[in-house]
Order: sequence, then C-alpha cells, then structure tokens
Amino acid sequence: MERTSMADEYERSAEFVDLMLAAPWRGLGPPLAEALRGVTGPIVDVGAGGGHGTRVIAEAVAGAEIVAVEPSTALRSVLLARVGESAELRERVTVLPEHLLSAALPPRPGAVVLMNVIGHFDPADRQAAWAMLADRLAPGGRAVLNLQPPAEPAAVPETRFADVRIGRRRYEGWGRAEPAGPDRIVWHMTYRTYQDDRLADELKTHYDWWVLDERRLKEEVGRHGLVQHRTGPDELGMHVIDRGDA
Ligand SMILES: C[S@@+](CC[C@H](N)C(=O)[O-])C[C@H]1O[C@@H](n2cnc3c(N)ncnc32)[C@H](O)[C@@H]1O
Repeated sequence: MERTSMADEYERSAEFVDLMLAAPWRGLGPPLAEALRGVTGPIVDVGAGGGHGTRVIAEAVAGAEIVAVEPSTALRSVLLARVGESAELRERVTVLPEHLLSAALPPRPGAVVLMNVIGHFDPADRQAAWAMLADRLAPGGRAVLNLQPPAEPAAVPETRFADVRIGRRRYEGWGRAEPAGPDRIVWHMTYRTYQDDRLADELKTHYDWWVLDERRLKEEVGRHGLVQHRTGPDELGMHVIDRGDA
C-alpha cells in the first residue's frame, strides 16, 4: 500500500532528539515501569520516538506484545535500529508509521503509553484519543502520560536542556517557547555541535505544542468516563488514566 507522507517535524533534529532524550528517560523509566505494573499486553507506545520508552515497557511487562506508533521517518529509523538490534524486541515489537489516530491499533490494548507526546495533539485530536481509550482499553487497562511544562501558554526563556559528549564532539540542546494562542506555544529549538569546544554546527528548528494542565486533563477524560490520577514523582508530571477499575 502506498503511504502518504506528512511533514516530519523531527526530520532535521532527529539525530539530536533521541540522544538528548536518554538522560530524561533515566528518570522517567522507573515510574513508568511502576505505573505499568500488572498490565497485560498488547501495549501501545504512542509517538515512540527512537524507542527509549519502548525498551522500558518491554522490560517492565515481560513477554507483552508492543505496538510502537511513530510517524516521523527520521525518528522511526532510530526506533527500528534499536528494536532490530535485540532478538527479543524483534519478536515482540511491531512498528507502525502512522499517526495514532490513523494507525491500525490492537482492538483491546492493556496499556497505552503517551510519554513526551501529548503536546503534539490539538484539542480535537486529544478528544479522539480519549474516546479511543474509553472504547478500547482492556478491563483493568490504563494509559500513562506526562504533561510537560509550561501548563499555560507562557513564554519560557532560552534554556539549555541537554549537553551530551560523544567522542571529540559535544552536543547542546537549547529551547525557548513563546505563546501562540490561548492554549498553544511554539518551541524554538537550537542544537549546537562543538568539536573540541569550538562551535562546528548549529541547527535551528521549531514546533507547535498544545499546553494542557492537570485540571483540564481530568475534565477532558472525565467526559469519556475515564479517571485521571497522578503517578511517580510530582516533578515528572506523570498521570495514569483508567476507568477507575485498575
Ligand atoms: C518528543 S518525541 C518523544 C518520543 C518518545 N516518546 C520519547 O519520549 O522518547 C514526540 C514524538 O511524538 C511523535 N508524534 C507526534 N504526533 C504524533 C501522533 N499524532 N501520533 C503518534 N506520534 C506522534 C513524534 O513523531 C515524536 O516521535
């Protein structure tokens, strides 16, 4: 079947994004594993990126089938390489190239993981995602997601969020945000590469991000008969959504 391609927001930054997500995942991994305790497969990893979370899910829920949905060709290449290098992941992980709302998902997922991704969903797509959860989650199933700051459309000053050394090169990730509407911001990202502490390359990119706070998350999922509660350390902004039956 021929695939229609959509704009890949990560096309130029993918080489840095997966690398720079490794450190945050050292903090996110244990609470995600804890939040998935007792679930059964299949598990959907939404916007799996290069697969840091996919690997956590695979370790947390032994033997479960995983469906990793990743529409960015560039990040999907990292994901397929990561999955392809492990005999176990090759058996258990299916990688789908669509957006969540057009992917052929398993009819009854035991869990749906949306880490570092919900800001890519506009309000209408979020409603569709909550409807999908209400319709499909297996009994006792749950979604796990995080809300990343800011929770309102506020400006965020230029901040360095990553500094990673690989060989003689060092990679810095910088971001600043500005309001772009009542519940939307634009993140302006700069990725700098240094060789022996001399600037060798600089890449600038930006992407839209829909802000969401806990109160609105609770209200939105509540309209679909779902319940939100916090999980993990407060500073990670992680939430579980279920039918109140877990
Ligand atoms: C910041 S990255 C996070 C990747 C991964 N979850 C992680 O934490 O390492 C956000 C990801 O969401 C994906 N994405 C954006 N919109 C999506 C959608 N509608 N459905 C599925 N994935 C989406 C992007 O392609 C990107 O890989």
